[in-house]
Amino acid sequence: MNYPKSVKIVEVGPRDGLQNETTSLDTDTRVQLITQLADAGLSYIEAGSFVSPKWVPQMAGSDKVFARLPATSSTTYAALTPNMQGLERALESGVKEVAVFAAASESFSQKNINCSIADSIDRFVPLIEKAFSAGITVRGYISCVLGCPYEGDIKPQQVAEVADKLLALGCYEVSLGDTIGVGTPGSTEALLSTLLTQLPADKLAVHMHDTYGQALANILVALQQGIAVVDSSVAGLGGCPYAQGASGNVATEDLVYMLNGLGIEHGVDLQQLIAAGNMICSKLNRANGSKVARAF
Ligand code: HMG
Ligand code: MG
Repeated sequence: MNYPKSVKIVEVGPRDGLQNETTSLDTDTRVQLITQLADAGLSYIEAGSFVSPKWVPQMAGSDKVFARLPATSSTTYAALTPNMQGLERALESGVKEVAVFAAASESFSQKNINCSIADSIDRFVPLIEKAFSAGITVRGYISCVLGCPYEGDIKPQQVAEVADKLLALGCYEVSLGDTIGVGTPGSTEALLSTLLTQLPADKLAVHMHDTYGQALANILVALQQGIAVVDSSVAGLGGCPYAQGASGNVATEDLVYMLNGLGIEHGVDLQQLIAAGNMICSKLNRANGSKVARAF
């Protein structure tokens, strides 16, 4: 089987994880988590988001978090920005990389960012132009690539159309979000076989939530198809506030354990990562969602 030699892990716990926890954490704890994750070797950490605090109160204060992160570091600290106001807040906070997020489903787009898919793309045009003129790189997300909580099945071609648009706007990579974790190795295979006839593998990442326990299996399929960027969340934190019942992303610890087993490089120290996950779970007073962390 052909696997990538190395995988870039995009750690989304401090954003995708914490945005859906019932407890909102103080700046110190958020910074402590991000610092421990960087110390564990994670080279890319989504550290917060500049969305409306009325929509996602857990991410309020992301400016204070970014102000505390090292200005120069080998780790990329990124933020989600849904609109120009979000980008401006990110720029004021010294953020060096942002991510825009669209959806493959109209209903989810309305529930998540209060506009249609087409309007969201229109909003991203000036946002991305402004980011580029400030020297900021932009990643793109597409939600609901393997199913929508409101519309059910999503056709691979719907995803391909949005991916094309995000890449044409200048996103250097598009992360394919199985927001509600309904995908299986079968549907992941079908999606990627369609996308990879139109787009190169190095423009794609996968972002698998683990609601139905399929995330690692789906990631394995993506690796076999040549995808070498995988999003994950320490301790399997989180979900999506606009997708009821969605559980966290695949746990980073479980991903690292699988990559170790496959002999794929990733640069992360598993024990330090587990310590970061245990720390945040004790602050959140919740069980650790990583099976590997529990087994150790
Ligand atoms: P809206 O209500 O349509 O916005 O929300 P608006 O432009 O009409 O403004 C309304 C108010 O919000 C105004 O304040 C604005 O100033 C304020 P008011 O005058 O009422 O006091 N506002 C903002 N405040 C701070 N930062 C901003 C901002 N923008 C407007 N950036 C909006 C539209 C996009 C803002 C809203 O829907 C929103 O914030 N949505 C974000 C939802 C979210 O964060 N979802 C989770 C992240 S996506 C995800 O988890 C999926 C992913 O993980 C991949 C996957 O798993 O699929 C990425
Ligand atoms: Mg997500």
